Amino acid sequence: MNRFNDLTDFSTDEIGSLLKLANRLERNPEPRALEGKVLSLLFLSPSLRTLASFQAGMSRLGGGSFVISPEMSIHGLETRPGIVMDGTAAEHVREAVPVIASYGDALGIRAFAERRSLEDDLTDREFESLASLVNVPLINMESAIQHPCQSLADWKTLNDLEIPAQGGRFVLSWAYHPRALPLAVPAATVQMAAQRGMDVVVLRPPGFELPEPIMEKARQIANETGGKVTETADRKEAMEDAHVIYAKSWSSTSHYGNRPGDQALREELVDWCIDEPWFDKARADCRFMHCLPVRRGVVVADRILDGPRSVVLQEAHNRMKVQMAVLHQMLKN
Ligand code: CP
Repeated sequence: MNRFNDLTDFSTDEIGSLLKLANRLERNPEPRALEGKVLSLLFLSPSLRTLASFQAGMSRLGGGSFVISPEMSIHGLETRPGIVMDGTAAEHVREAVPVIASYGDALGIRAFAERRSLEDDLTDREFESLASLVNVPLINMESAIQHPCQSLADWKTLNDLEIPAQGGRFVLSWAYHPRALPLAVPAATVQMAAQRGMDVVVLRPPGFELPEPIMEKARQIANETGGKVTETADRKEAMEDAHVIYAKSWSSTSHYGNRPGDQALREELVDWCIDEPWFDKARADCRFMHCLPVRRGVVVADRILDGPRSVVLQEAHNRMKVQMAVLHQMLKN
């Protein structure tokens, strides 16, 4: 494997093999598998889980890792193309990225969406421009429109919970958040659930429809896997017989890059906080998923997060397990 960027680059069988490898490494640890190998990690955006799970996973396989982020760089990193660097940043990513990549055997990059232009973000312009500077195996640790590590961990979590692939009802729900957030997790999640063959419902208020290219790709995937992808603003309709609700906030696509417009729209939607009444029509054992970090009492009520429906900690733990499988497949001779 030379690039782990988009789960839909892999067939269902290939994903199955990665998940089997993750389970095998858990049963039979290989603490010397990646001895002498180094993973370089470039974080241009903040993280807790991704940063810690990649470092821990690499150590468990016998390899090493190092982290670079703009806050820790003594020079300060400039990311804008074609800029005259007469400000505080003294180093450009065009030099920094190939240098960082050259110290390791693989590179992980995290670069969140700029959220200025929907068109640029849908083509993952910034991540692809950084990727073009790299000639070692590359892992997308979350970009404008992708979060394959999260999606693979979520797929494993669904398998671990024995939630049916064919016929399992998966609700991806928008949730309130005081700020406009990127599209990476909802885009990757709707496609992951469709790829798993599930009956996927995107539940969102008007103005927060996912962009058509994301929905169209998910529908095409579902056609191939026997799944289904629909969308609605009706909570009861969406939640009927649901096996899972996966909550996430995202930017308004009708006011993308327009902060006051987005803010005015979301201010009216504080009741989009997942709580027990949402589950009235769902299956009794309907689970709650979220990629974390999550704002308690804003996105979801404490009693859901602290109760038996929540599997958010399993999802986070599975990040390390599936990333170990990716690293093993990418770097083991
Ligand atoms: N879910 C996730 O990617 O978490 P971090 O942003 O903390 O890495």
